[in-house]
Amino acid sequence: MDWEVLVYGSYGYTGALVARTAVESGYSPTLAGRTTERVERQATELDLDHRAFSLEHRTVVEDQVAAFDAVLNCAGPFSATAGPLASACIATGTDYLDITGEIAVLESLAGRDEEARNAGVTLLPAVGFDVVPTDCLAAHLASRLSSPTRLTLAIDGLDTFSPGTGKSMVEGLSRPAAVREDGEIRTVPAAAETRRIDFGRGTKTAVSIPWGDVATAYYTTGIPDVRTFAAVPEFAVGLLRRTRPLAPLFASAPVQRALKALVDATVSGPTAEERAQDVARVWGEVVDDEGDRAAARLRTPDPYDLTARTAVVATQRLVAGEVADGFQTPASAFGPDFVLEFEGVEREDATAGVGATAGPGD
Ligand SMILES: NC(=O)c1ccc[n+]([C@@H]2O[C@H](COP(=O)([O-])OP(=O)(O)OC[C@H]3O[C@@H](n4cnc5c(N)ncnc54)[C@H](OP(=O)(O)O)[C@@H]3O)[C@@H](O)[C@H]2O)c1
Repeated sequence: MDWEVLVYGSYGYTGALVARTAVESGYSPTLAGRTTERVERQATELDLDHRAFSLEHRTVVEDQVAAFDAVLNCAGPFSATAGPLASACIATGTDYLDITGEIAVLESLAGRDEEARNAGVTLLPAVGFDVVPTDCLAAHLASRLSSPTRLTLAIDGLDTFSPGTGKSMVEGLSRPAAVREDGEIRTVPAAAETRRIDFGRGTKTAVSIPWGDVATAYYTTGIPDVRTFAAVPEFAVGLLRRTRPLAPLFASAPVQRALKALVDATVSGPTAEERAQDVARVWGEVVDDEGDRAAARLRTPDPYDLTARTAVVATQRLVAGEVADGFQTPASAFGPDFVLEFEGVEREDATAGVGATAGPGD
């Protein structure tokens, strides 16, 4: 099948799932990454074309992406890769997708909306687990109230993670958390709020954690106040708060290098068997100024398997010409029901207001 798509970072944990899923879906992407032996080996195994290049030199990146309809970037942390690849895409008229959930990256891409539109290019980041389910749930909830002013989203189910997610988390240790208030992103202390949330199997403690939705949900729904939470074991709430003063230490380059090396040495990501057993749950609620509420939940398959599937389908639909130019979110591109197209995803409208109680902050 004709699919002029370059998958960059294709031999990482998630990139490899994406590449395999694309092939199983009948597509033949070109594989790419900066480590020649790894991309060559993978391309031989999957019988695909490949390119080996790093992102350091603008003209090299532009030359490499120019021949493609779209680039799907799976190389994270995206703080280092989204900028150069998106710039090369805009310069060469190539559409750009990625699977980031990093707020700063998403905000930076949103800020390039006009530039992308002028170039006739679509920037469609975050086509992975974070944020496809949460973004679709946000759009669904926003349609249930006439003027929602506050959105809360929460995720339960990130118990095992891949090396790249671990390294993105290491970068996150050095930063404060973030919420959106009055349309602006504001930094807040890590784990500032807790809530008890019923994800569908009894209530769990969830702590405020800055998901990509702090960026994307605003562009999808226009709701000016957005907060994001994740279910964590009780002990982790205290740990997150006690380590706040260490943020400057975590930010230093040697500590970042050491922690990322530790992730590389110790984290391999969930196995196929573990992923097959895994389920994730998402909960969301919108509130308006009159105090009216609407809540809903999603149940999804394993986040990494779902990421591979949503990324491939989003890429296919973008290449097919379904998405407008400029910056897009998953739900602005494909609507609130996009996530329901994937096997194993179920949505349930919860009784308004049921499912969460605010817990003590600090
Ligand atoms: N949004 C979501 O739902 C979702 C889901 C899954 C993963 N992710 C994110 O996806 C990213 C990748 O995760 P992973 O577990 O697949 O990571 P991984 O196994 O560590 O693989 C990362 C890949 O990115 C490449 N890479 C990293 N930094 C690079 C740079 N500066 N220049 C060029 N290539 C670079 C690596 O190439 P080398 O090996 O050659 O360095 C490798 O191919 C992470 O940021 C993770 O958080 C997001």
